[in-house]
Amino acid sequence: MIKHKKSIFLLGGIILLFVVFVGGKEKRDSPKEINTAPQAIETRNASTLRDLGVKKGKKMGAAMNDFMISGDPMYAQTAAREYSSITVENHMKWEYIHPSLDSYDYTHPDRVAGFAKTHGMVMRGHPLVHTGQLPAWLTTGVYTGEQLDAIMKDHIVNVMGHFKTNYPGIVTSWDVVNEAVDEAGLIKQDVIWGNIGTSKDAYVAKAFQYAREAYPEAKLFYNDNGIETLGPKSDAVYNLIKNWKAEGVSIDGIGFQSHILKVENDSLAPDFTRDLSTLEANMKRYIDLGLEVHITEFDVLIKTKDGIGETELSEQAAIYKKFMSACMKFAKCTSFTTWGITDKYNWLSHLDGNVGAPLPFDLNFAKKPAYHALSEALLGR
Ligand code: G3I
Repeated sequence: MIKHKKSIFLLGGIILLFVVFVGGKEKRDSPKEINTAPQAIETRNASTLRDLGVKKGKKMGAAMNDFMISGDPMYAQTAAREYSSITVENHMKWEYIHPSLDSYDYTHPDRVAGFAKTHGMVMRGHPLVHTGQLPAWLTTGVYTGEQLDAIMKDHIVNVMGHFKTNYPGIVTSWDVVNEAVDEAGLIKQDVIWGNIGTSKDAYVAKAFQYAREAYPEAKLFYNDNGIETLGPKSDAVYNLIKNWKAEGVSIDGIGFQSHILKVENDSLAPDFTRDLSTLEANMKRYIDLGLEVHITEFDVLIKTKDGIGETELSEQAAIYKKFMSACMKFAKCTSFTTWGITDKYNWLSHLDGNVGAPLPFDLNFAKKPAYHALSEALLGR
């Protein structure tokens, strides 16, 4: 009887081994399943940007679009695996989210917020008060300063209120005011919001006040381009923020957009010669003002005309590494967002083919040297 039991166990063991071996092999050999469900996160490798960032207190983010999330499984999979923060690339701008005076359209950002929630990510609210991509009803309408003030306030209250109520804890940082300063470091004069109050920048203080009231726990940022290193525009923005803070404006952080490119003959061109030696000194002075730093829109344009060469890819990677390494120097640099995920979709895709490829993943979602540069910097190498 005992002997009989033993052989049953033995047979059972052999069957079990067979099932595990054959079943396992079948799984390994079958084509990779695209899994964008929540459990996909559990199978993430600890060396993803997302996970390395978590260990170092850095949210790793990317600008994204809901139609790519839903339409391209590789995109969704990469997004969930590699990033812990999303910025909606366009659909939170007035022309989309506030299509008429009395209506708001949350269709697209809701889809992104849903994805963020499912995958345990946060979202950067971008942007609340900005100067381009405004709807015609606003730019061609005739409004007094008081009316514009009320319109701006309603927008802030409605948009922040929507995400605070429907996605608690997801949209934790907001670009309250975006690109208010021109290249010479002056407050832009021809901006519709300049008609609010008695000075051209009065709207800034009001926007931050309304945002603070609407969502007290949120972190409020001023976001701009060309202010990443010491220089006239960065000096000007630094002084403006210093003054705004002295006047009681409640502002938590600075967004360094960090689009690394230059304008050449009216078109965009790579800029590998930019002096980045003052990156850290510049970051430090903003932090010393009591601000948190987010790198909000990072990308590095390269030349693509004759195919992308290794030299350009490594030059690009070196710039990625410089920025991420600078962020690593400061606990107060808490978020690093690239302006897209893959060269397949990016805001420069419309360019004539001579330049592009600004992102960490290539057209086929393979990791570029830029990706590895981010990882290396996150590992402190
Ligand atoms: O939605 C229309 C579509 O209906 C039309 O068929 C198509 C034809 O060109 O245009 C579509 O609109 C485009 C829109 O992006 C959405 O794709 C606009 O032409 C295009 O100008 C717009 O560009 C956006 C740009 O902001 C506008 O200034 C980029 O995608 C977006 O990445 C970029 O993002 C900004 C940040 O918000 C602020 N910092 C600078 C950054 C880069 O410019």
